[in-house]
Amino acid sequence: MESKNIPDIVIGRLPIYLLALQRMVMEGRLYTSSQELGERLGISAAQIRKDLSQFGEFGKQGTGYNISFLSDQLRRILNIEQVWDIAVVGAGDIGHALAGYQGFTNRGFRVAMIFDNDPEKIGKPAGNFIIQDVNQLTALVKEANIKVAMLAVPAAHAQAVALQLVEAGVKTILNYAPITLNLPAGVRVSNIDPLIHLQRMAYYLDPEKE
Ligand code: NAI
Repeated sequence: MESKNIPDIVIGRLPIYLLALQRMVMEGRLYTSSQELGERLGISAAQIRKDLSQFGEFGKQGTGYNISFLSDQLRRILNIEQVWDIAVVGAGDIGHALAGYQGFTNRGFRVAMIFDNDPEKIGKPAGNFIIQDVNQLTALVKEANIKVAMLAVPAAHAQAVALQLVEAGVKTILNYAPITLNLPAGVRVSNIDPLIHLQRMAYYLDPEKE
């Protein structure tokens, strides 16, 4: 695989490049340059060229990058040419927001099912889905060959549910619960915790650190 020795921080910038390119497509643009991308994103042109050069030669001296070609290449590199189904666990505020979110379309993912353990919620709708019993999770996720999950249960339940997801074959978990999951090697976890970001930024609210 071409991404074997590529630092994760570089991989992390590719979706940001892709998003900027998609905006340019919507503006009807055909070509861009590392300078222009850099200005839009607040990243240096040299950094962008260096990141992209790890995967091949995508632009031409003088004309720059063909936006649609580069977008296709980034999708291929990121493995999002296909659409990945997602299992959402926890049909609370966040689970409902995720199940109803239209923004996944055309970006490589789609919510496929949502689970909860609350008998009051099971069988009720969330977005276009019917909330399923978490007791069915292992069987349904396995059967649908789902590899991606978003975890939106309370912190106290997150570890146990995550293990259930792994047992069902899930390899990638986006975790909203404010807790560090302890999972076997080969399972990739990313955490979404707004408080971590806010606390980090609060440090700079001290006028002496401006
Ligand atoms: P919520 O309390 O509205 O929803 C949690 C849902 O998980 C409930 O429907 C509950 O029945 C379900 N649940 C509990 N145990 C379960 C289990 N074992 N299996 C399946 N479902 C189970 O919580 P909310 O607000 O949606 O948050 C979800 C997670 O995200 C929490 O861990 C929370 O701390 C975290 N979070 C929430 C934010 C927010 O703004 N609401 C922001 C950042 C993180």
